[in-house]
Amino acid sequence: MSAVAVEAARRRTFAVISHPDAGKSTLTEALALHARAITEAGAVHGKAGRRGVASDWMEMEKARGISVTSAVLQFAHRGHVLNLLDTPGHADFSEDTYRVLAAVDCAVMLVDAAKGLEEQTRKLFDVCRHRGIPVITFVNKWDRPGREALELLDEIEREFRLKPTPLTWPVGIAGDLRGLIDVRDDTHLLRYTKAPGGAREAVEEPVPADRAASEEGEDFARAREEIELLAADGAVHDRDSFLAGKSTPVFFGAALSNIGVRLLLDAVVDLAPPPGARELAGGGSRPVDAPFAGLVFKVQANMDRSHRDRVAFVRVCSGVFTRGMTVTHAASGRPFATKYAHSVFGQDRSSVDVAHPGDVVGLVNAAALRVGDTLYDGPRAVFPPMPTFAPEHFAVVRPVDIGRSKQFRRGIAQLDEEGVVQVLVSDRRGEQAPVLAAVGPMQFDVVTHRMENEFSAPVRLEPLPYHLARGTDAAGAAALNRSRVVRGEALTRLRDGSVLALFPDRWQANSFERAFPGARLDHLVAAHE
Ligand code: G4P
Repeated sequence: MSAVAVEAARRRTFAVISHPDAGKSTLTEALALHARAITEAGAVHGKAGRRGVASDWMEMEKARGISVTSAVLQFAHRGHVLNLLDTPGHADFSEDTYRVLAAVDCAVMLVDAAKGLEEQTRKLFDVCRHRGIPVITFVNKWDRPGREALELLDEIEREFRLKPTPLTWPVGIAGDLRGLIDVRDDTHLLRYTKAPGGAREAVEEPVPADRAASEEGEDFARAREEIELLAADGAVHDRDSFLAGKSTPVFFGAALSNIGVRLLLDAVVDLAPPPGARELAGGGSRPVDAPFAGLVFKVQANMDRSHRDRVAFVRVCSGVFTRGMTVTHAASGRPFATKYAHSVFGQDRSSVDVAHPGDVVGLVNAAALRVGDTLYDGPRAVFPPMPTFAPEHFAVVRPVDIGRSKQFRRGIAQLDEEGVVQVLVSDRRGEQAPVLAAVGPMQFDVVTHRMENEFSAPVRLEPLPYHLARGTDAAGAAALNRSRVVRGEALTRLRDGSVLALFPDRWQANSFERAFPGARLDHLVAAHE
């Protein structure tokens, strides 16, 4: 195996997906503390007021206690390098989430033991399924009263058509956890006891089965019975079906007390796939040991207020990245110098000199780079474009102060390039009144906030009565804009010049189709399917 293939095989690049409050920040911290964080453990993101709120660099994030931007955390475990990419926690940022998930090889789905599957879990899982990302499940908060383990598994199977294959099994009901059984080695009960001195992390102690049977009695016997029952039902881990997204290994624990976290970490190393060959646009694929190729999955401006710069997050897909190398920007065909390569963890940065497949580097001052772009060295590589979701909310944006129109235009163009919103324009509306299009209304709050605070160009938004977008062409646009019967409007997407037809609802879209049977109306990828 080549040196780069060896490094790739050591990498695991993953994200945690969950509904807000299921414990993502807590689990991230626990994972990083348990493993050896290569970067400072304080870089783990948490809620406002917690220590080390590094990814919450935007004031709005702090105020709302949510993470609207992504950070990357790298840590070592059992000779492997784990890259944990933070996904935004809010439904409105599903486009962002999609992009982050384009850069991972596996996802850990976090489920609250008391709540089971929640709205955000469902949406994020859909994205994983759509992208074919294998999912490991962690049922969290088993230290608190919650639902029955079998019932939770049943819910996953029924709702997600995903076979749950538990690899650990709890002894004792939620709220009265006696320990965990490692299903692959049930000769022991793993018992957790509070660490001396009141530390939060529990200590794990293996107790031989016969002793556990006498000490835990009924609970232990019942857990073993359930494990047998599950095995008989075919709920057995199978690598191929897991990688194909047909089954999910399930782990139980409590991130807050470090219960079951080691086993989850081991699972990421043992089960999650290492970076592999990546599909190219137009066919073929790029093996990991080909020369360098990387995918830009996120662009973020003004992360560091004192620098006012712009960072492009690049996932290394093949080859070795070395700082200072000159690569080719596939979209423009131009050379791109990587002098300012960093690992970026919220506001903390350190220079990255070398990165391997699966790693993420932040390229600073990467003004030319857009989300979805490919950078490469050697033979040309272009990864497939990232889909843009069908927007469902539309608003005209105008500068409050007409004297600041230069800042206004610069800011809007920047936010469009970052993918914070989609910007639509038309001759009729003019440059000073573009239309913003979003998957969720919270994207508009981000625009308002950033326009005022970063670009010193406060804006006013006027919602438009449209909720449905379809792709069309120049002829369709002309027909729609001329029509006196159909309520709707055609606009051009600034980012790629494509034309969108906007309607209040699908009845208006249908009536347009009837009135102009020859006109093109394409469905866009829906975020909420
Ligand atoms: P999020 O990032 O997914 O939104 O969730 P976060 O980690 O912030 O956790 C949400 C709440 O759930 C926090 O409580 C956290 O302490 C709690 N929590 C997380 N994991 C566990 C667990 O394994 N067991 C128990 N019992 N609680 C857990 P909070 O009161 O909202 O915040 P805090 O004041 O405790 O930080």
